[in-house]
Amino acid sequence: MKSLIGDLLLQRLAAARGAASTAAPTNRLLYDCLRGAILDGTLPAATRLPPSRDLARELALSRNTVVFAYDQLLAEGYVRSRVGSGTFVAEVFPDAYTNVAPRASAARAPRAGQAPSAVAMPPLSQRARGLLGRISAASVQWGAFMPGVPDVTAFPHRRFAQILAQHARRGSPSLRSYATAGGHPALQRSLANYLRQARSVNGEAGQILITEGIHQAIDLVTRLLADPGDAAWVEDPGYWGTRSILGVNGIDVRAMPVDIEGLQIPENTPDDPKLRLAFVTPSHQYPLGSVMSLTRRLALLEAARRRRLWVVEDDYDSEFRFAGQPIPSLQGLVDDAPVIYVGTFSKTLYPGLRTAYMVLPPALADTFRSAQMELYRGGHLLEQAALADFMDSGQYAAHIRRMRILYGARRARLIALVEERLGPGWIHPFDSNAGLHLVLSLPAGVSDVDITAEAGRAGVLVRPLSRYYAAPDAPAGLLLGFASVPETAMAAPLDILARCIERAVNRP
Ligand SMILES: Cc1ncc(COP(=O)(O)O)c(C=O)c1O
Repeated sequence: MKSLIGDLLLQRLAAARGAASTAAPTNRLLYDCLRGAILDGTLPAATRLPPSRDLARELALSRNTVVFAYDQLLAEGYVRSRVGSGTFVAEVFPDAYTNVAPRASAARAPRAGQAPSAVAMPPLSQRARGLLGRISAASVQWGAFMPGVPDVTAFPHRRFAQILAQHARRGSPSLRSYATAGGHPALQRSLANYLRQARSVNGEAGQILITEGIHQAIDLVTRLLADPGDAAWVEDPGYWGTRSILGVNGIDVRAMPVDIEGLQIPENTPDDPKLRLAFVTPSHQYPLGSVMSLTRRLALLEAARRRRLWVVEDDYDSEFRFAGQPIPSLQGLVDDAPVIYVGTFSKTLYPGLRTAYMVLPPALADTFRSAQMELYRGGHLLEQAALADFMDSGQYAAHIRRMRILYGARRARLIALVEERLGPGWIHPFDSNAGLHLVLSLPAGVSDVDITAEAGRAGVLVRPLSRYYAAPDAPAGLLLGFASVPETAMAAPLDILARCIERAVNRP
């Protein structure tokens, strides 16, 4: 027999599953439902929750799932547990202090099964609502074939920890304080050398700012060089993170089509007085993979000068090119290019390091350094000192060389498996044998979102290409990351994915 609480939770879980744009794990959903019911007064103070075993049976979940949710609520103070008599909703719970979501009064509390009332909570900002409407970041970031993720297990963690420990022992206390100079000067020097040699980037150490990922670099550029209501060119399809950061800062996105030569520069269009910025991925267009041709590069620089724009060159994964020569940066193509160069250690080392860098034109460097300190109060100087040693001793370049061989072999294996399993002709025509992911093109009319969801339910992670376009009726395709998947572990998930694709393609 079902209890009232069991019924309530069944309804809320079904609603949460239907509404969730990302595949949150069930234990998390159950916790959210219980917490919501406590906060909105549906489960009043002192209500006894069913024993975890009974609730698990009623909800057809594992007992561990329920125990997780109860433990989490207990740790956060929403429930208390009395040995021998059970788990009860607390009288005073944390949100009463933090004012995150005041509890609805009993009179306004919705009945079991109703959606939680928003009455008691002040509204979200328009910016937040806009952002929530376009959330793209995946909730699971590790597993076959999560795009864009390097093999974090191949990083020499032990060696890096030793370097870090040396700095921790010897370093001055200031290394544990806030960063004040846009990052550790040693890392700025190492990066200036590396970028000059490996990426033909022009710039001295003083022009380099170390950021918390490229995301922070884009946020800084957006806030310091454009105002709400201004506009920016972005590639279409393009990186969702750039669009989200622009959107939350009130910048209008002008989606510019890309072809095999990269972003198409509009000719003979009237000047756009609101246009301030252009975001491009010239070495390896994200996500389709084309390389921006020299003609386009020159045309972009010319358009930027004429229209008085800053170009932001997002050089996120250019170290991984598996044939031919590396593509030199756009920033270094001419002297005094109106380009802000950004790069990251997220792909060459590991994303959790949250360390990226920007090379600023000399005239902007001081402004950006001051603004970064004022807005974000950076830190991580110890890690930055260790990174500088890692680079200066040649270990960074050696790691990249090793990873290039590893990822090249994984990419070749994945392409071979796709061809074996699905036949030829699936790889996107803009592919340029580089990066950490492949794009498969799907026939028109097939839903890449449905395939992604079905594969996700079977434990295979891919991303739908259509979501990277601005317009809803976009070409369908799938992004498959290969870098973090050993060759021997590819066949099984690819087989699952191939079956999802075949079902979708053959669906009447
Ligand atoms: C095109 C592009 N830019 C930027 C980033 C994010 O870099 P970071 O991890 O340094 O924020 C990514 C990550 O996938 C990316 O694909």
